[in-house]
Amino acid sequence: MKYFEMSAVLAEQSIKNRSLTIAVFGQGKMGLPISVVFLEAGYKVVGVDINPELVENLNKGLVPEIREPGVIEGIRKGIESTRYYATMSIEQALEDADIIVIIIPIIVDDDKIPNLNPLTELMEKIGSNLKKGHILIQETTLPIGTTEDVILPILEIHSGLTAGVDFGLGFSPERTYSGRVLKDITENYPKIIGGINLKSTDRMALFYSSFVQKGVIETSSAKTAETVKVFKGVYRDINIAIANELAKIAEKLDVDFYEVRKAVNSEPSGNLLLPGAGVGGHCIPVYPHFLIQTAKNLGVKPTIIQAGREVNMSMPQHVINKIIQGLTYLDKDIKTSKIALLGLSYRGNVKEHRYSPSIDIIRILNDDQLNVYLHDPLYKPEEIKEIVSVNFSENLEEVLTEADCIILLADHKDYEKSLVSKMESLANKPYIFIDTRNIYEIEETEERKVYRIGV
Ligand SMILES: NC(=O)c1ccc[n+]([C@@H]2O[C@H](COP(=O)([O-])OP(=O)(O)OC[C@H]3O[C@@H](n4cnc5c(N)ncnc54)[C@H](O)[C@@H]3O)[C@@H](O)[C@H]2O)c1
Repeated sequence: MKYFEMSAVLAEQSIKNRSLTIAVFGQGKMGLPISVVFLEAGYKVVGVDINPELVENLNKGLVPEIREPGVIEGIRKGIESTRYYATMSIEQALEDADIIVIIIPIIVDDDKIPNLNPLTELMEKIGSNLKKGHILIQETTLPIGTTEDVILPILEIHSGLTAGVDFGLGFSPERTYSGRVLKDITENYPKIIGGINLKSTDRMALFYSSFVQKGVIETSSAKTAETVKVFKGVYRDINIAIANELAKIAEKLDVDFYEVRKAVNSEPSGNLLLPGAGVGGHCIPVYPHFLIQTAKNLGVKPTIIQAGREVNMSMPQHVINKIIQGLTYLDKDIKTSKIALLGLSYRGNVKEHRYSPSIDIIRILNDDQLNVYLHDPLYKPEEIKEIVSVNFSENLEEVLTEADCIILLADHKDYEKSLVSKMESLANKPYIFIDTRNIYEIEETEERKVYRIGV
């Protein structure tokens, strides 16, 4: 008997005994840590993925390096104790599992419309294998209403079962920060949950409460839980946009944005964020488009949300303007100058380049056929070839040598200490340094012009 059809007493017992199996669809940067959280809580886990190489490697204990502390060891321990295996077979996974967790990415197409096809195709396949007693929990961030309006009917049609009665269904967003996912889930935040009916919510609460120290926040519906995640992402995007716009104004005012920010934030209600080269990753730049579409469908004009996106998407060009300004000031010809970009990732110490401002900057510079060089300690040359066309080297010295313009885009740890001395000895002086992260407190000299966003 599977979890959702058990009596309340039996369900509690199965949680207490950790006798349940969880199928986690998507074994990527989020799916792997989530699997480890479930394993460490004492459950069995089936990792499901469409990538055959990944599945094969996972079963051999060859876990990809995703820079999440505890993940590699956690999966290996799971394999050794036979409490984890990976598979591409939905049939097998659903045979074994009581709880189905979905954590595959949803992205927007070129017209910024969310592409739900990968999800709906997966739901059709899961629906065809769904059994009485399963509960399916969406953890992937979704456009609001997707669980009830899109997923529920697909699962019912393909399974012939009734949602909320024969199988459970709900949404529980992943509220984590890359690099500390395990801790965020188990220790740092309560888990937001929302089922399509009371029984679904109850069973989700029982499950998550067994390993989330801060407990659960039960919302009144799956739709409410979906809204929490999308609103939070949009709130952040807009706040970053305000910082970016104010930084641009501060530059024109000849006022130091960072000095102003420090003073502003001395009030309890002041929470001005940091400006930067743009917003990357597959969360924050994507979720506003989910909401823009929803608002339009509902006849609400998403004015601020759209404006925020526009400001954040303008930041790569703002960095380019600084390159032009700096090289012109130094009387260097941009066509023959060597431009060194440090960091492909959208933020430090994380290997994630989706929607990274670095890619936009490289593309704009490539359009003018400029001499662009890239370094990122987290990437290999063969990976870069698949992502963007640029001169890439794993050797920082090689990228800095004879550079006329050096732009720090991702504040990776590797750059911390040695960067300034390396720039000083290797750059083609006089040179410009654009610190888009504002982490180096270095003076301007006759041979080094320094730019920041907001100064
Ligand atoms: N990475 C983050 O920081 C973060 C934070 C919060 C929430 N999230 C959420 O997690 C989602 C997934 O992010 P990620 O970083 O793990 O993505 P990822 O690209 O690292 O991994 C996704 C994995 O899903 C697999 N996959 C794709 N379609 C599949 C299918 N039909 N069946 C089984 N597996 C499939 C892919 O092969 C890949 O291994 C995001 O879209 C977002 O909603 C991510």
